[in-house]
Amino acid sequence: MKTLTGIFLDTGNLQEIRTYHALGVIRGVTTNPTILVKDGVLGGWEGIEERCKQIARMVEPLPVSVEVTTNDSDEMREQARRFHGWAANINVKIPIHGPEGETDNLRLIHELETQEDIRINVTAMMSAQQGLLAAMAGATYVSLFAGRVNNMGYDARQELRRLRQLLDACGSPARIIAASTREALNIIEWFEAGADIVTVVPQFIETMLVHPYSKETVRQFLEDGRTLQREGAPDVTMTGAH
Ligand code: G3P
Repeated sequence: MKTLTGIFLDTGNLQEIRTYHALGVIRGVTTNPTILVKDGVLGGWEGIEERCKQIARMVEPLPVSVEVTTNDSDEMREQARRFHGWAANINVKIPIHGPEGETDNLRLIHELETQEDIRINVTAMMSAQQGLLAAMAGATYVSLFAGRVNNMGYDARQELRRLRQLLDACGSPARIIAASTREALNIIEWFEAGADIVTVVPQFIETMLVHPYSKETVRQFLEDGRTLQREGAPDVTMTGAH
């Protein structure tokens, strides 16, 4: 069953999160090590903890994804517990497998979700079949890097549609995240293809929102409003009349 949640903001920048959260248009935040480096997180683990806690507090109770920084299973488990302890709304991002295709991650995802009650966002996936396995293992979120799929010359919408059908067919509660947006159009088209959530970089929210013809229309209303105040009927608010 399709259960659209909405947009997760893909950033670690506090000002951007503050701005778009205040507009009421986001339903969560996602980060990864690349984003946190780009957004100027310094100071090693202290810096990471501070920024992630700030984000979590700012958007609470909306979910915030924080990604593990290691490929070692024991370290991943330790980091997952640590992130989980920082705030109740932090969930842990774990790649579907290691850089050489090591399959241990799925076991860990399964254990963390089922034995430790830690919400996992399985990341770096490129296909419906990976998403299906992550959902079967018990992941709360399954992230398909749709923009990267398109980069390789495939149409990510086909994978999203297949994953949607598969998860619905087996009654999986996993939420499908379509990630790595490349253009504003991706957002609507990936929702239409069956994503529950699309991760969006801040500038695309502005692209979605601001339309040149709306600007022109509003300019005209404001101009005519000024004319109306100057030359129109007496201002009723001045007399207290309703
Ligand atoms: O949410 C995942 C995203 O951060 C990856 O995006 O643009 O690096 O493919 P990108």
